[in-house]
Order: sequence, then C-alpha cells, then structure tokens
Amino acid sequence: MFAFNEASEKEIEKILGKYPDRQSALLPLLTVTQRQERHISPEAMVEIGRRLDVSPAYVQSVASFYTMYHAEKVGRYLILFCINISCQLNGCDDLLAYTAKKLGIEVGQTTPDEKFTLLREECLAACTGAPMMRINDTFYEFLTPAKIDEIIDSLE
Ligand code: FES
Repeated sequence: MFAFNEASEKEIEKILGKYPDRQSALLPLLTVTQRQERHISPEAMVEIGRRLDVSPAYVQSVASFYTMYHAEKVGRYLILFCINISCQLNGCDDLLAYTAKKLGIEVGQTTPDEKFTLLREECLAACTGAPMMRINDTFYEFLTPAKIDEIIDSLE
C-alpha cells in the first residue's frame, strides 16, 4: 500500500496549483515520490496516475525513461560517479573502484544499511571539476582518495 506522507502532500498541492493541465505535473510528482520512497514502486505509479488522470502504464513509461527515477530502492545517499571523458582522463576509474572498496559494495549496489548506493553516471556537466561525483543534490569535484574519504566519512 502506497501513500504520500504529509510533507509530500503539501508539496503536491503546491505543484498541482502551478499546472492547469494536471498531466504536466507528472515529472514533479515522480520527483516527490522518488524523494519520499527512494524509488518508484508500481503502487506509487498507480497513485500518481490516479492523481493526474493518466494510466499507471503511462506513468511507468515516463518513469522508466529518466535515469533519476529508480525502480529499485536506492540508499539515503545516492552516489553518481561520472565516468565520461573528462573524468575518465582524470582517473575516475581508479577513484570509482576506490569508493566501491571503501563502501564494501560493487558499483550498482546499495550498502546493507541502505545508506549508500553507488552508480556510474554519464557527464554531469561539471567537466572543469573532473574527476567528480554527485551525492544526492551536491556536486563534489577534483576528487582524490583523501577527498572521497573526507566526504563519505562526513555523511551521517
Ligand atoms: S565528463 Fe565528468 S562531468 Fe563531464
């Protein structure tokens, strides 16, 4: 059984006020759902469809197109490690392997306590700060092993 929590309901009310055509609020509602649940479940798709008067299949087709919506639950901290050309030329492969080893998981996995998920990502448009990673909404640039230690160890 899926239900939006109180904070999400307030956000949804504001979002729906901005869109005369309810269907246009699909991406913002998916974002609210991803933030609340850390994934988009089939039950959530049904509820979003009901709110916006679209089919769950339509919700699923949109959710599955965008990489920021996840079918499987991600950790509280979602680490997106850029592996594109600028980051590649500045050693991202070794740093990604270092991060995976530090977390005790493989790339693509979530730690057993659901704190971290580590994923590869394409260019995040912060090439001048390569090598870089994004954790939730924050970019971390010019990474080194020591900097990665400092960043990850500082997250509660
Ligand atoms: S190549 Fe890594 S941010 Fe662009």
